[in-house]
Amino acid sequence: MSQTFKTAAARGGTLGASQHQHEDQKMSETMSTTLPGHPAARDIADLPAPPGLPLIGNALQLHPRTIHRTMEDWSRRYGTMFRARIGSRQVVVLADGAAINAVLRDRPDGFRRPAVTAEVSDELGGNPGVFLAEGDAWQRQRRMVMHAFSPAAVKAYFGRLAHVARRLEAGWLQAAAQGHEIDLTGDLKRYAVDVIAGLAFGADVNTIEAGDDAIGRHVDTVLAGVARRSLMPFPYWRWVRLPADRRLERSVLAVRSATDGFIAGARAALAADPGLRERPANLLQAMLVAADHPDSGVDDAAVAGNVTTMLLAGEDTTSSALAWLIWLLWRNPAALARATDEVRRHVPDVAALTYEQTEPLDYVQACALEAMRLKPPAPFLPLEALRETTVLDVRLPPGTLLWCVMRHDSVDARCFPSPDTFDPERWLPDAQGAHRADRQAALPFGAGPRICPGRYLSLLEIKVAMATLLSRFDITAVHATGRPEPAEVMGFVMGPSPLTMTLRPRA
Ligand code: HEM
Repeated sequence: MSQTFKTAAARGGTLGASQHQHEDQKMSETMSTTLPGHPAARDIADLPAPPGLPLIGNALQLHPRTIHRTMEDWSRRYGTMFRARIGSRQVVVLADGAAINAVLRDRPDGFRRPAVTAEVSDELGGNPGVFLAEGDAWQRQRRMVMHAFSPAAVKAYFGRLAHVARRLEAGWLQAAAQGHEIDLTGDLKRYAVDVIAGLAFGADVNTIEAGDDAIGRHVDTVLAGVARRSLMPFPYWRWVRLPADRRLERSVLAVRSATDGFIAGARAALAADPGLRERPANLLQAMLVAADHPDSGVDDAAVAGNVTTMLLAGEDTTSSALAWLIWLLWRNPAALARATDEVRRHVPDVAALTYEQTEPLDYVQACALEAMRLKPPAPFLPLEALRETTVLDVRLPPGTLLWCVMRHDSVDARCFPSPDTFDPERWLPDAQGAHRADRQAALPFGAGPRICPGRYLSLLEIKVAMATLLSRFDITAVHATGRPEPAEVMGFVMGPSPLTMTLRPRA
């Protein structure tokens, strides 16, 4: 069966926490933009393409660290749909926001994550967690993960999240007292790892106080390595292993050993308190209980795969979003002052921070959404067509690789007036008319049935970190190491090059 997607009515991603519940179900039911039978006017071969070289195509123009920028430049030059080639692999690139929205909604049946990424991960001995799983296995894992990340579960976890933030604060107080520069990007990664390990695995890894985020560094290496290999024109590492490949393999082993440790800890907790089998305290316990049922469809490999997935998906994304946010606030003093004022009004004593105090932090949340509009942690999403599909007016056969450029409409003046300006007010609940953000034109968390299940947690993590920072300190400087502006560095997500921060404690 062929499916056709057109622009316009196709929009409908979501960001708000309140819309989280039952959303997955609704998403699958509202794939309303398929227009079966619409004739395709063009084939992929009719699309414009940047000139490439024989055999390798555009491979030399696409560097893993800047690939998102190149795709965005090309979409301005060649239009919102064009083709490119990496070796023998042809990709179609799509930058039309509404068409992207419709494609993201046509999952799991119409599109999957590219098989090449799953193959690269398989080859490294990885187990598919919910991010890379497809079909029935994905459905089962998704249900479990959604349950673990529901607003109620995240709210129940709030005390420990605030506890992790207190450690961040303690480190920053010490640095401020000694007049030291803070390794901002490093600290935010450690914060995100500690939060996700606590929520998903019930483990207190405390990388903040240990000062060494070994897990985080290995996670970064694995993510960047899988992304790099997925882009290679041919799998050279099967014949020659470069230093980067050896580093990758070492990091895979280290992440696996951390995963085994988390699983052993959760098994021990279940053995010590059999009552937990009825009311598992975290995602990992829930998965182990499910895996112990012979017909659950969740096996030990899926459990291990999801532990790794949570570490991979939950660390860099949130920490990159926070790092960009702090940078952009520093560069926009009026927004920084307003965010600070909001925090100080609602959070009189951050040591006693409650979940309820984070709820009215609308301006802080608006700043986070605006930062992700300008600096999306996931600036492009690669997919693969599972059946013949017509997107815009182009016929895509099954197996077509479709790369979605997520920062196109979100920085287009037709969707966001003065698109280069950091203007959080567009995201406030009471923003009016043309000033109101086109919420479907910026999709930092994706859309449709595979929308990010961690979005609610990450927005809360961001609010808690910002409440800690702005209520206890005045920022005196944020610097990009060795350059006037941070560079956008693409690994698995797009983060800033290293940032440092100096703080003055408030009296
Ligand atoms: C600011 C922070 C974050 C951003 C910007 C972000 C962004 C994304 C995006 C763009 C996707 C792909 C969605 C799609 O295909 O439509 C995704 C998927 C996913 N994210 Fe996040 N994410 C963030 C935080 C988190 C956190 C904290 C977790 C929890 C550990 C998480 C877990 C996942 C998982 C498991 C998936 C795969 C879902 C599936 O395939 O069904 N993310 N995220």
